[in-house]
Amino acid sequence: MVRLMGDWGLGEGALHTQLASHLRMLVVSGKLAAGVRLPSERSLAEALDVSRNTVGAAFDELRGDGILTSRRGDGTYVSSARQFLGVRGDDRFESFLATTAGIGSRIDLRSAALPGLRLVVDAASVVGPELAPLVESHGYLPEGLPALRDEVARYYTAVGLPTTPDQILITSGAQQAMRMAAVSMLEPGSVALVEEPSFRGAIEVLRAAGARLEPIRRGPHGIETAELVAAVRRTKPRLLVMQSTVHNPTGSVINPGRRRQLAITAASLGLTVLDDTTLADAMIDGPPATPMAAWGSTVITVGSVSKSFWGGLRVGWLRADPATVASLAPIKAGEDLGTSLLAQVTTARLLPRIGEARAERRTVLGAARDLLLTALQELLPDCEPVVPAGGASLWVRLPAPCATSLVQRAERLGVQLLPGPTFSCIDAFDDYLRIGFAADQDQLVAGVHALAQAWRIVGERT
Ligand SMILES: Cc1ncc(COP(=O)(O)O)c(C=O)c1O
Repeated sequence: MVRLMGDWGLGEGALHTQLASHLRMLVVSGKLAAGVRLPSERSLAEALDVSRNTVGAAFDELRGDGILTSRRGDGTYVSSARQFLGVRGDDRFESFLATTAGIGSRIDLRSAALPGLRLVVDAASVVGPELAPLVESHGYLPEGLPALRDEVARYYTAVGLPTTPDQILITSGAQQAMRMAAVSMLEPGSVALVEEPSFRGAIEVLRAAGARLEPIRRGPHGIETAELVAAVRRTKPRLLVMQSTVHNPTGSVINPGRRRQLAITAASLGLTVLDDTTLADAMIDGPPATPMAAWGSTVITVGSVSKSFWGGLRVGWLRADPATVASLAPIKAGEDLGTSLLAQVTTARLLPRIGEARAERRTVLGAARDLLLTALQELLPDCEPVVPAGGASLWVRLPAPCATSLVQRAERLGVQLLPGPTFSCIDAFDDYLRIGFAADQDQLVAGVHALAQAWRIVGERT
């Protein structure tokens, strides 16, 4: 419910009026369908960090308009709405939608998406000659531009995962690669094992595919192999979705020994693993990691240039055996007939410069991480950050399970963050926050000040 509410309380007017109009919009848009039972006034007030009177007044207004109905002793229901038909995710990407991204003077520490590198502009401005022969063809290449498939194969071979071009399918970002793998392998109701915590986009695509998500705990060194064996026996999954290199949201990297063990265990269980390595080139500590597909034949690897060069290119890929790639190509054709050749030509020029991109990311991310850790130690000494080895976000443990309401309060004090449950398929981790550190340094420090102010109010109550 809080996810659906997004940044509802940032407009003009009394909070109860804003709350009522946001709820009305959710009903009209079908996000809250007819017959849905709303949380109690008390629990919604607590989650949104407002008074019970505020929620009561908003509900009264909507009851007056016939949008909500109350049944005595049985709570409040949505009484009228256009029903949404079909399967949808569960709104974990609200922070990227145009209406909510970067509103006003608010500091947005929700995203860990990085600005692009100057290298992208340089590459894009000289691709004309490579495009010229391509524009003479129809330009629909669902499997991807051959030159880029070659470069991606070389990229993997260089990090210890020998790869041929026919093992690569180019996609519009890693997100599409995961979606295609999910829809091809899962039917509504089939089980997907998901690391807990996990990337919100993975949860979103699996939910949209109608899968039943089973959480599997991720410790500081990744999933324990014994737990994997037990979970597979218990839940009989079609797929395990995990991140073997840099993990979002925790920034931890599974060591090579564990990566190898997990790959071998999965192969022995006949379990397909979708290994999302999107953040692999955003390492802060340590050398580039070898993806776990190097040790197991049942691993499908997903990658992207979003974290190395730029998310706006919308270029990613899926690496699997040639037969799987060939079977996914028609699905890719059905999705969008192929990723933009303009973006692919540019990416093919960029990938040979991956070393430069990694070095630049390492420097910038390392400095931002250290700045954030220092600010947290000074302003929120009771919080326990998990020091990330890569990526652009920090996973922080709070002294009490109040992340959802803390984020609501922080938002009204000028900083936007994501609470732990956004990264859980069972809405756990209300004692964790994720703080993105891709923002500029002044914003980052100002954001931690606002968070500390919110904590003084919310923490006192808990
Ligand atoms: C772990 C992870 N996987 C996938 C994605 C999506 O990547 P892309 O921009 O390539 O679609 C992201 C983006 O933040 C991510 O953090």
